[in-house]
Amino acid sequence: MKRGEGILPSQQIMSQESNQFENPLRELRLRRPPFWLVAIFLIAVVVSWLPLVVAARRRVQTSAYPRIQIMQDMGNQPRYKEQQTSPIFADGRADRPPIPGTVARGQLNEDDHYYRGFSTTMVGGKPQVTFFKGFPKEVTVDDRLIARGQQRFAIFCSPCHGMDGSGHGMVNERATELQEPKWVPAASLHSDIVMGRPDGHIFNTITNGIRNMPGYGSQIPVPDRWAIVSYIRALQLSQDAPSSAVPAEKLQTLKQQQ
Ligand code: HEC
Repeated sequence: MKRGEGILPSQQIMSQESNQFENPLRELRLRRPPFWLVAIFLIAVVVSWLPLVVAARRRVQTSAYPRIQIMQDMGNQPRYKEQQTSPIFADGRADRPPIPGTVARGQLNEDDHYYRGFSTTMVGGKPQVTFFKGFPKEVTVDDRLIARGQQRFAIFCSPCHGMDGSGHGMVNERATELQEPKWVPAASLHSDIVMGRPDGHIFNTITNGIRNMPGYGSQIPVPDRWAIVSYIRALQLSQDAPSSAVPAEKLQTLKQQQ
């Protein structure tokens, strides 16, 4: 059918007009994108979530490596680690010792007897050290204290001095077996010398060590040191009790057994 045939002239004009005046923006209207473009877009959206998932997982994961810190928040700052060197100080050490005479809050530790076991007095311009006899007033010697001392003694002292204090601890036995030339045997705590030491002297031996024995002050707090002293006294008594300390009827059976 030829164009314009079978339609009214007025209609023909209209259709001609509508052809003629077609919307010029029609070509610019967004058309439905092709399927492959939509697919790529959706995949890209899902892939963009991956960093979030990884970040969420890393938050609960443990790792041998330091965490990645996107927000620094002053988390990483230039600083010295312990035992490092620094050119700022004359001695080249980054660790600074406390200023002499520094006292930490609540650590004035004035009581010589309790905290040190000895006092120092100046006699003729020379310091004279006197060890305290007996236990300081802060310490109550009772079963609880001795039991605590026994437990601490087993941990800290028995490796060298032995559970019975005779000086035959495991470390001592091993060193003797290996014939370590420099090994100084741990002293027997039942010797007359140690028996005669004032309590403050034994306390100070635990704190600072003595001759070849290292000090344990940094590992054993003050109350535990006194507990150990009380236990050593109990140990000594166990090996050297006078017969008067034994109840009469028990003494009788003991004598019969001998
Ligand atoms: C590493 C081994 C070792 C340990 C652990 C050890 N000692 Fe000693 N102790 C020694 C030696 C060695 C001597 C003898 C030192 C010397 O004569 O040079 C000694 C000596 C002593 C003496 C005698 C000191 C004197 O008056 O002559 C006492 C008391 C003593 N120790 C108590 C203790 C107590 C309490 C503990 C636990 C807190 C302890 N020791 C832990 C090795 C040790």
